Amino acid sequence: MKLAPSILAADLADLAGALKLCEQGGADLIHVDVMDGHFVPNLSFGVPVVAALARCTEIPLDVHLMVSNPDRLLDGYLEAGSDRLAVHWEAAEHLHGTLTRIRDGGASPGVVINPATPVELLEDTLEALDFVLVMSVNPGFGGQSFIPRALDKTRRLRAMAERLGVAVEIEMDGGLDEQTVPLAVEAGVEVCVVGSAIFGRQDPLAAMAQIRKTSEKEDR
Ligand code: DX5
Ligand code: ZN
Repeated sequence: MKLAPSILAADLADLAGALKLCEQGGADLIHVDVMDGHFVPNLSFGVPVVAALARCTEIPLDVHLMVSNPDRLLDGYLEAGSDRLAVHWEAAEHLHGTLTRIRDGGASPGVVINPATPVELLEDTLEALDFVLVMSVNPGFGGQSFIPRALDKTRRLRAMAERLGVAVEIEMDGGLDEQTVPLAVEAGVEVCVVGSAIFGRQDPLAAMAQIRKTSEKEDR
């Protein structure tokens, strides 16, 4: 299992400190939630913050674009140093073209699906992407409760990818903690995004270690 701490839940006045914690905790990716105040009600980070993070760490940046019309913003996030760039299925009107632009721009392309979006809609897109991010909460806020239906979606996605003979990495985001990470991994999730269950805890390093430990039994 790859662990991707979500810095949305970190002390936003000390992002360098958050990156240090991620390094000490052996994080595989840094999950960066970009919100535009339109696709989701909140505003969070933009291109300058992603560029500053990229200057500050060697850990790959996993950038989750919660924005309407992501095409207009791709160049900025690619130039800023996104290693993985995911757009929402619900927001991308020309998804195949968007994914191709991300790959041509040197990043790994991903698609995010909201809880109400069926994975079956990705059947004709799987070949153009590297990973699918299954939302296990409605996007826009940290600290929400896990939606168990995301587990069944993961299994259906895994079966679909196998049937089509396409390699797809499955990532999950929202409400993941010591209890839900093992369920996600058991269902076939390979990348777990964890916000408040790391940075909201008194000892984020211990929380990271504990989450890894709970997932080991289930790891593929
Ligand atoms: C929600 C974001 C998540 C968020 C997860 O819109 O996409 O990445 O940070 O936070 P937790 O782990 O607290 O649910
Ligand atoms: Zn996210």
